[in-house]
Amino acid sequence: MKAAVLMKKGPALDAFKIREVPKPEIQPGQVLIKVAAFGLNFADVMARKGMYKEAPPLPAILGYDVAGTIDEIGAGVTSLKKGDRVTAMTRFGGYAEYALTNASAVAVIPDELDTATATALTTQYCTAFYAASEMVNLHTDDSVLIQSGAGGVGTALIQFAKHRGCRIFATAGSESKLNYLKALGVQHPINYNTQDFEKVIRDVTEQKGVDVIFDAIGGKSIKKGIRSLAPGGRIVCYGASALNGKNIFGKIITGLQFGFYHPAMLMMPSKSIIGINMLQIADHQPAVIQRCLQQVMELYKAGVFKPSIAKTFPSTAIGEAHDFLENRMSTGKVVVRWE
Ligand SMILES: NC(=O)c1ccc[n+]([C@@H]2O[C@H](COP(=O)([O-])OP(=O)(O)OC[C@H]3O[C@@H](n4cnc5c(N)ncnc54)[C@H](OP(=O)(O)O)[C@@H]3O)[C@@H](O)[C@H]2O)c1
Repeated sequence: MKAAVLMKKGPALDAFKIREVPKPEIQPGQVLIKVAAFGLNFADVMARKGMYKEAPPLPAILGYDVAGTIDEIGAGVTSLKKGDRVTAMTRFGGYAEYALTNASAVAVIPDELDTATATALTTQYCTAFYAASEMVNLHTDDSVLIQSGAGGVGTALIQFAKHRGCRIFATAGSESKLNYLKALGVQHPINYNTQDFEKVIRDVTEQKGVDVIFDAIGGKSIKKGIRSLAPGGRIVCYGASALNGKNIFGKIITGLQFGFYHPAMLMMPSKSIIGINMLQIADHQPAVIQRCLQQVMELYKAGVFKPSIAKTFPSTAIGEAHDFLENRMSTGKVVVRWE
């Protein structure tokens, strides 16, 4: 089978080669999927640049989400059958014509859902659902700040917060992304290049602060975020995109800028910090992944979740697809298709 293999770390355009590799061998509890389309996630960019410690050694096949048809069923799997159209989370190995994953990380997709759009509903929408429903449980009239709101996870968080009747603040780095946020129904879009989110929140909420913040930027954004929480507020930390493009000193500074917190500093003002790593959940709580996938699919069918596809690339342009995502050109999901 063909795979888009990460051959060397560094700039996107030199990093990948399409190679013939052996088809993976199925194990009990797994399914083998013939992949029509696979999705990109920002973690893939971090892995390509050597900033993701869980990534496999080179030459590596990255990839967290795929969509296609079930080609083979492992022993013990009863919930799926050969030929089912599915979308699935993979623990790497997604950038290939065939991908293996556990049956718990697979959802059957409706006939009308195309495979490119289906890739968005796995890692990015499941992360958003897990964060906003399972970890935080957003309520009507909660005020919510969504950092990097125009991205894949950001779009899903906005759609979920809107569904729950929240008042939404969201940040992005360009006017076109701000227009995208407005079209999604964000009441307070913030261009972080011209506005300070902490000041906007202070002014709009009359010093009170917001109830929930979703932040995958990290560094000083977390410290400012904690200051921007109202009493009872929670900040969900799920990434560190601020590390991208930094040299070793920049990374150390960004690491220190997160801040150091004693429980008393959270208890006294009644604020909480929540950390999320979906790989850990997939490894240790597969039933939670299955539940999130099923709920995401129901919300898709109900019209609450509407993935937005930024661009679809052919597999031969995998480097360009990475470049596009890394250089902040995408709104929503970046997808790659096998021809
Ligand atoms: N913890 C988990 O389990 C988990 C799971 C999924 C995703 N994540 C994290 O969630 C975040 C979003 O993931 P995604 O796949 O949906 O990506 P994405 O948001 O679609 O794309 C990345 C966006 O991040 C923003 N950004 C902020 N700082 C950046 C930087 N230094 N370099 C490049 N872009 C930067 C850019 O938007 P602007 O132009 O608006 O700045 C860019 O468009 C990532 O940090 C990812 O690692 C974590």
